[in-house]
Amino acid sequence: MRQEECRILACGVLASGHCLIEVDATPLGQPARAGQFVMVRTADGLLDPLRHPVFFSRGGHHAQLLVPLGEPWQTGLSMLAPEETLNALGPLGQPWEPRPGASHLLVLALSEPVAPALAAAHWAQRQGTMVSLVLGHKRWLPLAELLPAAVECTVADQNDWSALLEPLRWADQVLAVLEQPAIPRLADTVTTARLRLVPGFADVLLKADFLCGAGICGACEVEGVRHRHRVCSEGPLFDLVRLT
Ligand code: FES
Repeated sequence: MRQEECRILACGVLASGHCLIEVDATPLGQPARAGQFVMVRTADGLLDPLRHPVFFSRGGHHAQLLVPLGEPWQTGLSMLAPEETLNALGPLGQPWEPRPGASHLLVLALSEPVAPALAAAHWAQRQGTMVSLVLGHKRWLPLAELLPAAVECTVADQNDWSALLEPLRWADQVLAVLEQPAIPRLADTVTTARLRLVPGFADVLLKADFLCGAGICGACEVEGVRHRHRVCSEGPLFDLVRLT
């Protein structure tokens, strides 16, 4: 983890309502991986002195960051121009790990941040894993263009979870980004589809407010099954069995 100025290679707003920023992440040292993020400082440090978390939608040294637009700091990032720099601290968080031997990955990107779901789908497909991506909103469909064509992409009906039963039956591994109240529902649906929920099958991105992003301040702690989790440093991806 380092705090560095990363050169912007490209920046643009997508039809999905996200900003895609391609950065030279070489100054951060280790290459960014799926599930990881950086804490960025916006150009207007006087008005907004806090850092904000931004997730990688593609890892590596020439990495991509995907930012949903809405907050002023997010809009500010979308105005970065090539050759400007982004002050970033990272890469932070534990990277997502593909399950050994898994040949079918199901990625459920039902809510923001979508970026880690895309990064995992991209990485797994490049390793030869068959990937199905289920998006939470139709307006996010343009994001499929960021992925290899072999990634199957559909849109979820979030009122009808029974549609996930079949994909869950054939999947060897699941990565899910969804709202916290939907976590027990995912666990129930996995149990219905596969009779039991086993460790290592499903990883879920836990959402929390990040202040330091590095496991220091405790702002991101949430209650787990047995103990509290410091989401930014222990996660943000957690095995579903640890959360239900
Ligand atoms: S944000 Fe400070 S410990 Fe996680």
